[in-house]
Amino acid sequence: MFTFCWILLLFIKGAEVREFNLTGCLHKEPERIYHAITDEEFILECVLPSQHRIHMYNNSFLYKSNVLWFWQQKDGEPLKIISSKSTNPTQEGNALWFRPIGINASGVYICMIREEIPCLSNVIKVQAKNNTNCSDNGRNELSLLIEEGHSISCPGIHCYNHLQRSPVTWYKNGIRVMFKEIRSSLKLKDDTIYLRRTYEQDAGIYVCDYILFDNSIQWTMRRVVRVKIIARNTLHSPNILSPSGMKTLEVEIGKPLKIECKVFFGFESNFLPMITWYRDNKESKSEPLLQKPTRIRVEELEGKSFVHVATLREVTERDLNSNLICFAQNSVGNSTGVLKLKRKERALFIFILYGAIAVLVGLLLGSAFVYQHWIEIVLMYRNYLAKDETIGDRKEFDAFVSYAKQDSFERDSTFLNEEQFALEVLPEVLENKYGYKLCLLERDILPGGAYTDDIVTAIQQSRRAIIILSPGYVNGPSIFELQAAVNCALEDNMLKLILIKYKSFQEPESLPPIVKKALKILPVVTWKSSNSPNKQFWKYMRYHMPVKNTRGLGKNSVKFFFHRLFSMVINSRKATGRSQQTKK
Ligand SMILES: *[C@@H]1O[C@H](CO)[C@@H](O)[C@H](O)[C@H]1NC(C)=O
Ligand SMILES: *[C@@H]1O[C@H](CO)[C@@H](O)[C@H](O)[C@H]1NC(C)=O
Ligand SMILES: *[C@@H]1O[C@H](CO)[C@@H](O)[C@H](O)[C@H]1NC(C)=O
Ligand SMILES: *[C@@H]1O[C@H](CO)[C@@H](O)[C@H](O)[C@H]1NC(C)=O
Ligand SMILES: *[C@@H]1O[C@H](CO)[C@@H](O)[C@H](O)[C@H]1NC(C)=O
Ligand SMILES: *[C@@H]1O[C@H](CO)[C@@H](O)[C@H](O)[C@H]1NC(C)=O
Repeated sequence: MFTFCWILLLFIKGAEVREFNLTGCLHKEPERIYHAITDEEFILECVLPSQHRIHMYNNSFLYKSNVLWFWQQKDGEPLKIISSKSTNPTQEGNALWFRPIGINASGVYICMIREEIPCLSNVIKVQAKNNTNCSDNGRNELSLLIEEGHSISCPGIHCYNHLQRSPVTWYKNGIRVMFKEIRSSLKLKDDTIYLRRTYEQDAGIYVCDYILFDNSIQWTMRRVVRVKIIARNTLHSPNILSPSGMKTLEVEIGKPLKIECKVFFGFESNFLPMITWYRDNKESKSEPLLQKPTRIRVEELEGKSFVHVATLREVTERDLNSNLICFAQNSVGNSTGVLKLKRKERALFIFILYGAIAVLVGLLLGSAFVYQHWIEIVLMYRNYLAKDETIGDRKEFDAFVSYAKQDSFERDSTFLNEEQFALEVLPEVLENKYGYKLCLLERDILPGGAYTDDIVTAIQQSRRAIIILSPGYVNGPSIFELQAAVNCALEDNMLKLILIKYKSFQEPESLPPIVKKALKILPVVTWKSSNSPNKQFWKYMRYHMPVKNTRGLGKNSVKFFFHRLFSMVINSRKATGRSQQTKK
């Protein structure tokens, strides 16, 4: 494919070449004879000669392939095409650029531009610099200090003072310098450009042309001058913009880290300033470099900021104890910026941890509160929210009370005995205060049938069986009532037993097994015989008694429940507060 294209290209070029009479072109008088000095830049343009042309060369001129260049080094040698890929000279627009021109570049150069220039012939004569018969050929690279007055003269022009010559034509960046219309700071005097005050835009490629008349030959002398505008070298050492002062960076151990150093360097024409990062460890004096120093070039007249980045593959404990130092140096001096690394607090993690602890503590406190006040909460719930469970169960009594009957001579008026407790204290509190209906055998059951039948009937008519346990009870005949109650409870879900430990007792061996089991399993409420109101006991009693007498406050009951619960929480907190104060 490539070969094919190449052949096609050659064919096309060949056709073009044949179109023009190259041999005829070669034998025509050359348009100009240029004089060039070795080892200098040289430009040969393909433009028809005209007195008024403004452009010397035009880099955007058509397409490169439309401009053809041929070269004949010596008379009688064949014409060689100059490839568009040639590196010296290079083809740029409609010009050939020699960078630089060598002694062997002398010869005849023929160019043609399709549909514009059929044939143009120029001759270049390259003269060795040491052979110019002139000690000073001038400089073709100028560095001019900005904002000062300068002059640009055509190099080596004085070497030809013995010859007649035309005035100098100046081109800047390929465009003819027209002194009349150019801004007033630029003056032309004695073929020299004078700049009263230089600006950055005065930089560029200047070309000067003049014609020497040597006997019958007209030489065109052409020299190229590259003008650079420079600033005065800075008087300041580099300015570290960041990290400035003592900067601290939060980092995570084990993570990679990129650190940036931003430094401003003033202009320096012949010095390459340097930036680097290093680690400064107080303990070990070694200063391992994090990255190789970077040499930079400041071409901007007003100076330039550079950013130098170093990468730590992972942050270590050692880095936390070191200073990371950005070091910048120019010809004036050096500056440093210090970066300290600090461990990053894992804020979110800690927040979550504390949150979790708070929730846990809250839960613990809440459950402790509920555990402590469970009975109250249940009672309050029953009081305000629960349904009356006695409705519709067709039972007559809330609780059957079973106790050991006392012989009259055993009666002791100083102590409250269990019969008095059963017949007086229980009804007084449970019936009068809380509205339960108790079943007391003597009081409520008309003796009709057999004693055992009466007992069973009474138990069946009750929702609870309250058993008042004492040594007299477990050893006496009343134990039968407990046995009957247990049997009834096994058949009837609605019946529950409440054991009251009225006096501590020894379990006799002779007890029926079912009673033994019941004593082990069933809830026991202990009566403490004291003069204090025994609030705890009644609370437990109410807890075990059926739900009854719900006030039925409807919608408001929920509100009341929570209101009471809330005031209970407040009260318990006040109480703990008070107890803490008293402890102090
Ligand atoms: C080319 O020009 C030369 C001289 O001008 C002439 O002798 C020659 O015949 C021309 N050739 C063609 C092909 O026109
Ligand atoms: C350069 O050549 C192009 C194409 O021929 C033209 O359009 C343009 O005006 C020229 N530029 C200059 C500065 O002469
Ligand atoms: C110039 O050309 C000659 C032969 O034409 C060659 O021997 C010589 O090395 C060349 N010199 C340079 C500097 O190219
Ligand atoms: C100029 O320098 C070249 C080598 O660069 C040398 O061959 C030549 O002889 C010198 N000519 C003169 C006149 O010094
Ligand atoms: C050098 O200068 C002398 C006289 O100044 C002159 O005779 C000679 O021809 C000159 N040579 C060249 C190569 O210009
Ligand atoms: C940096 O500058 C100070 C003076 O300002 C000098 O003493 C020191 O040696 C310099 N450091 C380096 C590494 O050049």
